[in-house]
Amino acid sequence: MTGTIARVTMAIGAPDDFDGWRDGARRLIQAGVAPDRVGWSVPGQAARDLFAGDDPPAPRADAPPVRASRDFLDLAGRAALHRDPGRFDLLYRVLWRLQAVPRLMADRADPDVRAIDALARAVRRDMHKMRAFVRFRVVETGQGEHYVAWFEPMHHILRANAGFFVRRFAAMRWSILTPQGAVHWDGAALHEGPPASRTDCPAGDPAEALWRTYYASIFNPARLKIDAMVKEMPRRYWKNLPEADLIPELIASAQAREAAMIALGGDNAGRPPATLAALDEAVAACRRCAIGCNGTRAVPGKGPPDARLMIVGEQPGDHEEQAGHPFVGPAGHVLRQHADAIGLNLAVARLTNAVRHFKHVSQGKQRLHQTPTAREIDTCRWWLDAERALIRPRVIVALGASAARAILGRTIGVQQERGRLIALDDGARLVITSHPAHQLRLGEAARADEAARFAADLALAARG
Ligand code: URA
Repeated sequence: MTGTIARVTMAIGAPDDFDGWRDGARRLIQAGVAPDRVGWSVPGQAARDLFAGDDPPAPRADAPPVRASRDFLDLAGRAALHRDPGRFDLLYRVLWRLQAVPRLMADRADPDVRAIDALARAVRRDMHKMRAFVRFRVVETGQGEHYVAWFEPMHHILRANAGFFVRRFAAMRWSILTPQGAVHWDGAALHEGPPASRTDCPAGDPAEALWRTYYASIFNPARLKIDAMVKEMPRRYWKNLPEADLIPELIASAQAREAAMIALGGDNAGRPPATLAALDEAVAACRRCAIGCNGTRAVPGKGPPDARLMIVGEQPGDHEEQAGHPFVGPAGHVLRQHADAIGLNLAVARLTNAVRHFKHVSQGKQRLHQTPTAREIDTCRWWLDAERALIRPRVIVALGASAARAILGRTIGVQQERGRLIALDDGARLVITSHPAHQLRLGEAARADEAARFAADLALAARG
């Protein structure tokens, strides 16, 4: 079959069009087109060979499904954003080989596997740099303030990184301009724009003072090791950093801050704990907000370290704080009843919370639940993010608005967003639903109604 096909050109919609590549690659594999017969045509990128190929052949009707392991897709999705013009050839070659060697990605000595890994790491680093070094300048418009930033990414990361800025700066109107294109957030929707130049972005303005304050508060003392600092903050980014001249005064307090940071559960490079045991230990010592300082014990997440499903509540209640485990009180009882009714085994799920300590007011002998503020949820999000990164669940259920905020980074209306699968940046899918405790507060008719909706949401997550 392969020998009868000449050269094929497969067009991709944009330099970061991983989904387009994946669809095309699937078709080609099912048509039996070997890697050395495929050329990928990418807008804005010079063709890699001079000879235009044929249109892609149709997949064979009897072709088996294409195998692509999750670790391949995770790495490939990032590697596809690299500016290397050969990236799509490399990805296709590996996908082709995976059909015969399904465990190829486990072979860390394989040159193709190493090459994909290197591309993915470079892209991840570039995304991280963009998140750390984008600097907004404020412009007054007829509709109020608009923040504009100029950034020069090394790779095709603008679209992939836009979600991060939407979550962080949801309430602002902003634009990020780059030589490859622009993204604009109007407070409700993201729009794309054409390539820009540095002069399209205003120069210094009051937002710099804001950034300087922000930077001083997040300054990472580990960067004081000069070599590490230059590695973390390559000189090419310095020219746009208003805070660079703050560094000398920050050096003075760095040692004390590094010690404080380690005490807060990060390592001395500001990274979250690397194991679940270290995470639990660090959460127990967390005093980042008033709830952490209220003298209750922290309740860590519970469930298998490789759980496919993660269920996130708001915070431990009275029973949970006493037992040291999530969902052992009345709300947990409602959750378990529903899980049992749809045949969902909660023992294989990871149960955890947006906030790790019990926020309450004491009334006599009773400890009454209090809802955490958005700020407290955002502070505690560091731990949930760390737990998600370690467990890597495929599906997450957010029980109520606090849990949804902890995952999405913004407040949403549960009733509007519930009952559908929402794609998250890390590839997991989110189902938002009500908190089971809500059912305990309803009258009989409303409770039956709510219970049916809750059961449907849970069943969706179990299938998703
Ligand atoms: N409610 C929650 O949100 N989480 C628990 O762990 C218990 C009750």
